[in-house]
Amino acid sequence: MNKERTLVLIKPDGLFRKLTGLVIDRLDAAGLELAAAKMVTVSESLAREHYEALKDKPFFPDLIRYIRGEFHGLKDHRVLAMVYRGENAIRRVRDVAGATNPEDAAPGTLRGSFGRITTKGHFENVIHASSDPADAEREVKLWFRPEEILP
Ligand code: PPS
Repeated sequence: MNKERTLVLIKPDGLFRKLTGLVIDRLDAAGLELAAAKMVTVSESLAREHYEALKDKPFFPDLIRYIRGEFHGLKDHRVLAMVYRGENAIRRVRDVAGATNPEDAAPGTLRGSFGRITTKGHFENVIHASSDPADAEREVKLWFRPEEILP
């Protein structure tokens, strides 16, 4: 038994394109349990901390603009942040999401069906999902206070 928690963000493209219900439905259908959810205004500093490991990548400035809703006119910088839990939750959420690069994502996955790469080469991949246990622990702590998550 490997009960895990993982962070899921419905990113600005997912919100803008009205995919919230569909994302939650797919995660429900996969048998994952929703343990926390809230709308978050993503400050510049939260965005930078979230993607800290990528700060030297050429696409970093656009990644920050994207997660802050600046490509989708979300002037309140909103995302929907959620914690899912369950056995092997990290991998199972990523299976529902599909590959990070929408071009590599299998048909029928969230990113395979709804992700895209813009003409400028930026990924718009609908959701963020923690990639491994260390990232999941760091990200859940970054986005949620302990009392906001079901015990
Ligand atoms: S992952 O999911 O962490 O294993 O993926 P990784 O390849 O390490 O990518 C980390 C995040 O960087 C984003 N990314 C990009 N954004 C824009 N343009 C390009 N070329 C690009 N390459 C990677 C990728 O979407 C990951 O962000 P999240 O929020 O996890 O999707």
